[in-house]
This record gives sequence, C-alpha cells and structure tokens, in this order.
Amino acid sequence: MAVRSVNELVKMGFEGIEKEILECTDCQLHETVTNKVISKGSRNPQVVFIGEAPGRKEDETGVPFCGRAGKNLDDIIEYMGLSDYGYAVINAVKCRPPDNRNPLKSEIKACKPFLEAQIELLDPEVIILLGNTAEKAFCDGKKLEWGVPEYVDGKYTLLKIYHPAALIYQRSRIGEQKDLIDSNRHLWK
Ligand code: URA
Repeated sequence: MAVRSVNELVKMGFEGIEKEILECTDCQLHETVTNKVISKGSRNPQVVFIGEAPGRKEDETGVPFCGRAGKNLDDIIEYMGLSDYGYAVINAVKCRPPDNRNPLKSEIKACKPFLEAQIELLDPEVIILLGNTAEKAFCDGKKLEWGVPEYVDGKYTLLKIYHPAALIYQRSRIGEQKDLIDSNRHLWK
C-alpha cells in the first residue's frame, strides 16, 4: 500500500497517522520489524527531537529511545531543562533496520511523509536533529553546522546536535554537546 500524502496524513490526526504507520508495507523494513516505533512525549511540544531509527530495545518495546542511547537523550533533555510537556521524540524511520545498520535512502524516503506529517501536527518551535541521518532525512540535502540554529520559513528553528549514541563511544563529545546546548538556550527558554 502506498503511503498517503502529507496533507492526507495531517488530516487524519495523530491516531490516523499511527494506524497508517502500523499498516505501512512501503519498504522492506516491515518484513523484519517486531514493533513499529512512532513517538513519545507531548502532543503540544515546544521542542521535537528527531532521531534516526529504532534500535533493538526500541524494536522490542515500540518506544523511541528507551535503550542506552535513550539514557543519554534523557540526560540531554534534563540538561536543557525541558518539562515533560515541553518535548516529543520521533524518529526519521519507524522500523528497525536489521543489525542496526543505517537506514537506506529508499527507507528514509518511504518514511518521509510520516515524519513531515508528525512535525506538522506537533507544530514545535524548535526541531532538534539528532545527528546526520536525521538531518539527511528532514532537510533534503541541506547541511547545517553543529549547534548553529537556522530559522526556517517563519515556522520553526532547526538545530543539529550530536546523536546520543555518539556520546556513548566518544565521551569527549559530552562536554561539546553541553556547549552546543548552552549557546542555544534562548531558543526554548
Ligand atoms: N537511536 C535512534 O536514533 N532512535 C531510537 O529510537 C533509538 C536509538
């Protein structure tokens, strides 16, 4: 079944989008997925975090960022000072790529209407791209500097920071990430 247009999805609302994602067979990932991973957090957030794709733990539970990288994302959110009502977390791709490989271009493309519709409905002031894959998926080839905000179309501000999983293996990035956040606090305060 072909994915519907962004406009059609937006009209369906959160529940409609969820149903469409659950029924989607538009790329090969649906053949190996256990649970599709849709979103967590507020439905009226000031900030939306976009991750890459579910990992093993997320595939088991259906909850975004509930594994080791999720612990780092929780730390980032706490450091930013966001309340539970202030943010939502979604992924560029809703199904786990086997063996945690990076999602393919075709998989990112197949999931893009869902990503765009989610962003339109959540309507955040700030979109935080967690790493390069989220940027690739959301920005159509446009490159952002790490930690340098960009105001888009009078709609929202985009900010790219390090993916929480990158902080597991590159501990030196933790301090850098805090600096990126500190220099952008005005965006969500
Ligand atoms: N990494 C991601 O990008 N998303 C998740 O949900 C979990 C790990």
